[in-house]
Amino acid sequence: MIILKRALVTGASSGIGEVFSYELAKRGYETIIVARRLERLQTISDQIERDLGVRSIPLKGDLTNENDLVEVSKLLKDVDLLINNAGFGLIGPFEDIEADREMQMIKLNIGALYFLTKKYALIRNSIGGGIINVASTAAYLPVPGMAVYAATKAFVLSLSEAVSEELQPKGFKVMVLSPGPTRTEFFDVASGGRRQLPGSMSPEEVVKRALDAFEKGKRSVVSGLINKIIASGSRLVPRAVALKAARRAFED
Ligand SMILES: NC(=O)c1ccc[n+]([C@@H]2O[C@H](COP(=O)([O-])OP(=O)(O)OC[C@H]3O[C@@H](n4cnc5c(N)ncnc54)[C@H](OP(=O)(O)O)[C@@H]3O)[C@@H](O)[C@H]2O)c1
Repeated sequence: MIILKRALVTGASSGIGEVFSYELAKRGYETIIVARRLERLQTISDQIERDLGVRSIPLKGDLTNENDLVEVSKLLKDVDLLINNAGFGLIGPFEDIEADREMQMIKLNIGALYFLTKKYALIRNSIGGGIINVASTAAYLPVPGMAVYAATKAFVLSLSEAVSEELQPKGFKVMVLSPGPTRTEFFDVASGGRRQLPGSMSPEEVVKRALDAFEKGKRSVVSGLINKIIASGSRLVPRAVALKAARRAFED
């Protein structure tokens, strides 16, 4: 197979990022896959190369660490598609979650995504390229019980839509993906494995639809019909009503 394109996927050692890595390889992308758990990345890369015959390079990196972030950003020049997917959530009452953990989440969900998006736009200024930033349906309304997570994703949604408009004339395609509940390790990390929300989608469905939408030039995609209705509905109903409904979804 002739490789014409290269993608860098953050948070590729599990869940949505892992599936992005496979699906991109199927679509002819060589991939650089980044996360902290190198062993898992190595297994995924080996499997991609064995099953699909496409090169995949595992790269260990903690994107909350400034040095690692800079090292990853140095690879962006030759990357045709950057997928800022690494992220995590924290579920619980605002006053109970430790500030240090929330600061780490802000660093990853906002800081790393912002930094790589910025560097990519600068480094590829005269070339253009593609970016998919992963937000969440939680970006569409404040979520009591997940207040800081939802706020980080509101940042991702807002930044990505604005930058998409700005960079389009320079040959960049920027899309923001907002999945609803998806069957990954997300809820184990967010709440110690206590819950999986009903009606969740598989990461395969989320990724396939996302890449199809990206190829069609969409700017913003919410995964699945029910999630689309929730996301657009949350902007129509009074804020107080939406807040109460969101709170009920996260109560034990
Ligand atoms: N699953 C859902 O219901 C859902 C819904 C909406 C949005 N999302 C978003 O989708 C994205 C992917 O999440 P997921 O559902 O696939 O969850 P996941 O299975 O927990 O995957 C998260 C990925 O992020 C990586 N990661 C975490 N901390 C990192 C760090 N400091 N540096 C580098 N990589 C790090 C993890 O790898 P390591 O631990 O190996 O570093 C892992 O590969 C996230 O942005 C999440 O907010 C998920």
